[in-house]
Amino acid sequence: METAVKPLDVPAAIRRRRSIKNFKSDPIAPELLQELVTLTVAAPSSWNLQDWRIVLVQSEAQKAALSAAAFNQKQIIEAPVTFVFAASPYAWREGIEPILEQGQANGWSEGFADYLRGAVPQFQETLGDKNREYAVKDAMIAATHLVLAAESLGLSTCFMNGWVEDQVKAVIGAADDSNIAIAVLVPVGYAAEPRPNPGRLPFEHNVFSETLGTPYQP
Ligand SMILES: Cc1cc2nc3c(=O)[nH]c(=O)nc-3n(C[C@H](O)[C@H](O)[C@H](O)COP(=O)(O)O)c2cc1C
Repeated sequence: METAVKPLDVPAAIRRRRSIKNFKSDPIAPELLQELVTLTVAAPSSWNLQDWRIVLVQSEAQKAALSAAAFNQKQIIEAPVTFVFAASPYAWREGIEPILEQGQANGWSEGFADYLRGAVPQFQETLGDKNREYAVKDAMIAATHLVLAAESLGLSTCFMNGWVEDQVKAVIGAADDSNIAIAVLVPVGYAAEPRPNPGRLPFEHNVFSETLGTPYQP
């Protein structure tokens, strides 16, 4: 078992994070895992909908099935836990009262809650097919919170896009749910390797000022 670490600050965690491909089998202490979950769902979401659906896969049987759904990538087998970030794009249709009640308990005015009661379904309805994209964005932001929180707390991760959506859905028990989308998988554990930073392109490739093509000059 690893000992408790002094958390890294956000810039340090961003700089140290690497996509780890080999994990130790060491378990994550339950309190640490709970803290990771808490920090993950502290992420913001559009309208505070919290429309991610996060499944922690830890059993050997589920890990084997999930790895098979992910082209046999072994990080899932090795890491003690893999977070499956699913998204529920039409969760808002089931009602947003719990979100409004919580917001009001935390300071939202009744008027603001009333505004959201009308505005949320109106806006989301106009999104059409983009409801999926919006829910996946929220799930990705939550996954990014997890990755940086884990790094800060001495753990390592690997964002994973390499999987077959229908197969991942079957593993998490959503095979027949057309309203569930898979955003990303994130194994979490203790790194069993140093991993070099593959580097980032100079700003001129992909950072601009005002309009695309105008170089950003710090
Ligand atoms: C959305 C996303 C999906 C990724 N999918 C995989 C994957 O399926 N398997 C894998 O080994 N690495 C995956 N990676 C890791 C990338 O290859 C890695 O982030 C990139 O090479 C940069 O390395 P770094 O994360 O160490 O900075 C993914 C990364 C992101 C952000």
